[in-house]
Amino acid sequence: MQAPDPCSETSQVGAPPCALVLFGATGDLTRRKLMPALYSLACQNLLPANIAIIAFARKPKDDDEFREDVKQSILKFSPSMRVDNDCWTEFASRLFYQKGRLDVAEDYGLLRDRLAALELENPVGSNHLFYLATPPEHFGEIVQHLGNSGMASEQEGWSRIIVEKPFGYDLDSAIELNQILRDHFAESQIYRIDHYLGKETVQNILVLRFANRLFELLWNHLYVDNVQITVAETLGMEGRGAYFNESGITRDIIQNHALQILTLIAMEPPVSLGADAIRDEKVKALRSVRSFSPKEVHEHTVRGQYLSTGSDRKDDVDYLSEPGIPADSSTETFAAIRFHVDNWRWAGVPFYVRAGKRLPTRVTEVVVQLKEVPDVLFARMSCARVTPNRLTIRVQPNEGVDILMSAKDPGQGMDVKPVRMHFDYAEAFGKEIPEAYERLLLNAMLGDASLFARDDEVEAAWKLITPILETWSGDTVELEKYAGGSWGPESSQRLMEVDGKQWWNPESK
Ligand code: BG6
Repeated sequence: MQAPDPCSETSQVGAPPCALVLFGATGDLTRRKLMPALYSLACQNLLPANIAIIAFARKPKDDDEFREDVKQSILKFSPSMRVDNDCWTEFASRLFYQKGRLDVAEDYGLLRDRLAALELENPVGSNHLFYLATPPEHFGEIVQHLGNSGMASEQEGWSRIIVEKPFGYDLDSAIELNQILRDHFAESQIYRIDHYLGKETVQNILVLRFANRLFELLWNHLYVDNVQITVAETLGMEGRGAYFNESGITRDIIQNHALQILTLIAMEPPVSLGADAIRDEKVKALRSVRSFSPKEVHEHTVRGQYLSTGSDRKDDVDYLSEPGIPADSSTETFAAIRFHVDNWRWAGVPFYVRAGKRLPTRVTEVVVQLKEVPDVLFARMSCARVTPNRLTIRVQPNEGVDILMSAKDPGQGMDVKPVRMHFDYAEAFGKEIPEAYERLLLNAMLGDASLFARDDEVEAAWKLITPILETWSGDTVELEKYAGGSWGPESSQRLMEVDGKQWWNPESK
């Protein structure tokens, strides 16, 4: 057989037949993200021709009822909000429902029997992918039951497990969950999801850095003044108050999504694009980030909680008045942290990270600000400082990259003004950017773990975040209120000002 041409767009080897078992199949994540992603993959002919998607859940339901639920989810949550009849009929025939309780061993035996029966009816092979999309308190018991019922075994085909976030609540619980997983599955069978890694623009950070000499040459403490990472949302709780109040923005966004981005910006070039080569470098980068003493937590972190924006919209309320939030909650809905990456490349370059709910616009972006040019030529003539170059990586929305550079303002003088060079994904490639979950589900079926977090990576991230959360829980770092629709508490600005810097707030478009 001729080997596939690795440079051809169609060279991707199709995913092998498999059964995908969804735990948490009636939950929000499955309805909003997983089912639309699987349906979209099916319509693009990217799912294995022989796949069975089995929901394992408590409520009594048959296959047809479950198929109808899935159809409604696709109508409501897929980007097009419609179903194509041919594609739907084929996809629906792949969906099955298995009633089962997460904490009852016999029900896992029934699941195993159902998988065996499906393998006989449809040639789906003996490959099994288990997806944990339940609340995290069930992860441990599901893993143990899967292991005890023999479904983690790879004797007949492969067996893989995808674990949704949150992966642990702090360092100790993450270590414990890793241990439970390792008791039953090998690390190579475990796929820990951080859906930001499935975003095209996050993957593009590696391409931008390592496929362009232009940037890589400047990517160090000699040229970079500071790095700013912003993950901003306009939304408040939207019915997720009970979950969020236990978590806070630092566990919800910074420990995972924001630190993943920081790692991709800070890491050294990997020796290959293999999963372990990339993850080795990411772990090295995370281990270079300074872990804070309680005193440093005071110095380098800010936390805040939103008030309403002042509009008369019914859902525009203070965090403490959101449904499900205790009136005395001290959970942070905004955090800003000044990280230090203490290695040769980044010594002295602050990495400012902020994330928050109810901010002015929904945006995720990275700004790499270069140092100022020496103040000897244009600044003297025009009596104005030359704006330093800035590279902005817009992760979402309006995905793209901007370079802020200086140009001569036309005229008789020598005025220097900042101008923008812009690369826009949609314009450059003229195609839709796929949803992160499509890529991640497909990669797990293909056995490519490069976009999933490894055990040591998750633990390294928790090692940085846990001391911050512990100091905050002592209530010694002020929890500042901020007006909804603002860029967070005043102290977030001061965190920059004391360093003689400022946040470059994303434009709201
Ligand atoms: C999730 C968080 O991981 O990411 C949510 O739990 C957040 O609180 C979401 O809203 C943001 O994802 P995205 O892809 O919309 O940026």
